[in-house]
Amino acid sequence: MDFILAGVKVTLQVVSLAGILGFIIGTLLALCKIGRIKLLRILADIYTSIFRGTPLVLQLMLIFFGLPQAIGITLEPVTAAILAFGLNSGAYISEVIRAGIMAVDKGQREAAMALGVPYRQMMKDIILPQALKNILPALMNEYITLTKESAIVTVIGVMDVMRRSFMTASSTYAYLEAFIFAGLIYYVLVMILTLIGKLIERRMRRYD
Ligand code: ARG
Repeated sequence: MDFILAGVKVTLQVVSLAGILGFIIGTLLALCKIGRIKLLRILADIYTSIFRGTPLVLQLMLIFFGLPQAIGITLEPVTAAILAFGLNSGAYISEVIRAGIMAVDKGQREAAMALGVPYRQMMKDIILPQALKNILPALMNEYITLTKESAIVTVIGVMDVMRRSFMTASSTYAYLEAFIFAGLIYYVLVMILTLIGKLIERRMRRYD
């Protein structure tokens, strides 16, 4: 149990860093998608279609096994995992954020423009803070997916909860116990995430 539990740190490390990376990429892509520059819109759409259109496990393997061959860069398994999950999640998050921004009343934008607020400031101080409330539930969904999906880092040798439970199972033949224990760990992690999401949502509602 201790051996498997030690994987929680690894799982959390991959998920949290990939989550931050995904959020940054997703925000930038969303801004490209709703912006006025056509080339950026097209590039952002291509990015999303590639990362949503191919399996995450394939992207993970391409980055870990393929990059050394392509450009001679060998990444640590954990780094490759964070990169693959961050890049993949960015594609999903960009759609979440784009939808959240579109849902902000168009009058807000018009009023800001009428008052001569510059685009950058309008986005940062007026549109994005309001969009955040629309985005939150879908974003929490994405982080839940990321947490569970992180189990596939097992295939590149990251010592996460899943891999440790698999190793335990195959060396002791206690498959049932090891996998059920891993399942419980993921379940608790997701429940904690759900709770955090609810708390943030409640706090945001208070500001209304
Ligand atoms: N299993 C799916 C795939 O391989 C999940 C992708 C990750 N999903 C996400 N929301 N980031 O494509």
